[in-house]
Amino acid sequence: MDNAELVIPEKRGRVAILTLNRPEKRNALNTALRRSLIAALQAAAQDDEVRAIVVTGAGDKAFVAGADISEFEGRSPVDQYRVMSGPSIYSAVEESAKPVIAAINGFCLGGGMELALACDIRIASTSARFGQPEVNLGILPGGGGTQRLPRVVGQGSALYMILTGEMIDATEALRLGLVQEVVEPGSVVARAVEVATTIASKSPVAVAAAREATRAALSLPLADGLKLERALFQLCFASEDKVEGVRAFLEKRPAEFRGR
Ligand code: COA
Repeated sequence: MDNAELVIPEKRGRVAILTLNRPEKRNALNTALRRSLIAALQAAAQDDEVRAIVVTGAGDKAFVAGADISEFEGRSPVDQYRVMSGPSIYSAVEESAKPVIAAINGFCLGGGMELALACDIRIASTSARFGQPEVNLGILPGGGGTQRLPRVVGQGSALYMILTGEMIDATEALRLGLVQEVVEPGSVVARAVEVATTIASKSPVAVAAAREATRAALSLPLADGLKLERALFQLCFASEDKVEGVRAFLEKRPAEFRGR
């Protein structure tokens, strides 16, 4: 299978769907798949027709079953340092100019959990299973799990998952706030596209600013976060979209946002 097939891109309206395509290996993240995903995310970010991105896994068994463990064998610390010095799928998602929604259709483990955690919104199927099983391999999460998981589910639940390596089901993930919605297995991509389409109907300028400010809430002190929010709010007043949004409301018609 060549690299072009490792991530299948598709467009539905203003939404790009990126399907990670190694189902026979439960979509485990090898180097080629990581590179393809980064390239596909960049292409979607540069495509003016696309306003939101959905990432999912091929097949009905896995979203992503983590890093490809076979690549770990024989790797030295220096090799691993080099691998981790390049661009990462996690920063590619987080720093994407467009919101990214994870449609989690099965096992979501290790690097798969970390990929989902880097996304803005997570929609899961009832069959999804989540875990950070790295301790079973004598390692720890290395794609941001120790930092992003506690920020999403709190310290206690994060430590429980990271230290035991146990999986949780979709109901528990919903209870913890790890996922925002749980739907039937056949509907997970459709529902993620629906949510992405709702986002795509809003002003891209406002969405990008709101996303930046909300994400900053987890890393900035409150005073600095509030300052950033105010600055972005004022910046929106320079956009055509703000003029259009306010005028459309006053004229009692739907707004036509152009992302300017
Ligand atoms: N890396 C490399 N290969 C993987 C993989 C991974 N993370 N996860 C699954 N695979 C491969 C299996 O080796 C197997 O390959 P084979 O058919 O050539 O033997 C194939 O995918 C199917 O996996 P299998 O274990 O038979 O499927 P399953 O449905 O019974 O179980 C999992 C699925 C995800 C529970 C199980 O494969 C697993 O525990 N994977 C490892 C998860 C993990 O530890 N991830 C963190 C890595 S840091």
